[in-house]
Amino acid sequence: MSTEQGTNKSEVLQSLRWSEDYLSLLDQRLLPEETVYLRLTTPAEVWEAIRELKVRGAPAIGIAAAYGVVLGILGFQGNVEQLAEKVVSHAEYLATSRPTAVNLFWALDRMKARAQSFAEAGLTAEEIVQALLEEAKQIHAEDEQTNRLIGEHALTLFSDGMGVLTHCNAGGLATAKYGTALAPFYLALEQGIQLKVFADETRPVLQGARLTAFELYQAGVDVTLITDSMAGHVMSKGWVQAVIVGTDRVAANGDVANKIGTYSVAVLAKAHNIPFYVACPLSTIDLSTPTGADIPIEERHPDEIALGFGKRTAPLGVSIYNPAFDITPNELVTAIITEKGIVKGPYAEKLKQLFK
Ligand code: MRU
Repeated sequence: MSTEQGTNKSEVLQSLRWSEDYLSLLDQRLLPEETVYLRLTTPAEVWEAIRELKVRGAPAIGIAAAYGVVLGILGFQGNVEQLAEKVVSHAEYLATSRPTAVNLFWALDRMKARAQSFAEAGLTAEEIVQALLEEAKQIHAEDEQTNRLIGEHALTLFSDGMGVLTHCNAGGLATAKYGTALAPFYLALEQGIQLKVFADETRPVLQGARLTAFELYQAGVDVTLITDSMAGHVMSKGWVQAVIVGTDRVAANGDVANKIGTYSVAVLAKAHNIPFYVACPLSTIDLSTPTGADIPIEERHPDEIALGFGKRTAPLGVSIYNPAFDITPNELVTAIITEKGIVKGPYAEKLKQLFK
């Protein structure tokens, strides 16, 4: 793995780019201070980048993993059967990088299924490698189109002058472009609609401060950064008319897994009678997971809390619990916004209909 030079500050940053025979990936751990693109050439490097949050956000993880499979088979020498086995083993390996965002498994399943159908269609090994690269590029391109549609639907819920609170980063950095929860803010900017965004800083890894505040501020969106514990206060002041967040997985009953702290924000929104919206592509909805209780919640290293950004902020040896995500029960979710439109609860039947 090697690194590339920083880009011009005024340039819109892309979380990932395919370049000829490698994956160029923005190292999100270094933002907002440094803009460094990593040059990834192996599935192991992609695995590590996902695990270490160099790339993060459900859709971006899925896209990176799809390219990760391709990196494992570029220049493959062997027969079609051996190639199919390689695709499966790279996909299974990449699937172990993080457990919660279902887009990871969705993208890897799609790559495996395509490999199989290309083999059945009689393509040569060389042709399959090329077709799988095109498939990964397609997943990447579709994400951008999908997010634009999500943004258009979501924007119908907002009007000029509204205050909107968001948690974590579900923006361009978490996706191919626009983001999910942040997409309506970019579209509002294009259309001259004034929204006032409050971004929770999002303990412990600060995706809200380092990434959401950064990308919205850079784009010219009116964004105010607050700490997580200020959300209730800001709501009580009457400054927030809606909450919108992204998600890592929506269960079949409409329960939502998202960055730790999202559940607290949903409870606060309910207490203040503020609508709580969740924005995501269909690839984040997992009908095979019945409820939120069935969604695996990643637990991350205690140092994220005790030694965040190199400064010890807790006594050595104290016990620490660090779940990366929580579950917001469906009854707290006012609506789920996808590329196919806006769905309100009760969710079970309506989510199923989205796939028909
Ligand atoms: O741990 P992260 O930074 O990958 O968590 C990201 C989130 O929780 C996002 O809100 C979610 O993935 C949606 S991104 C469009």
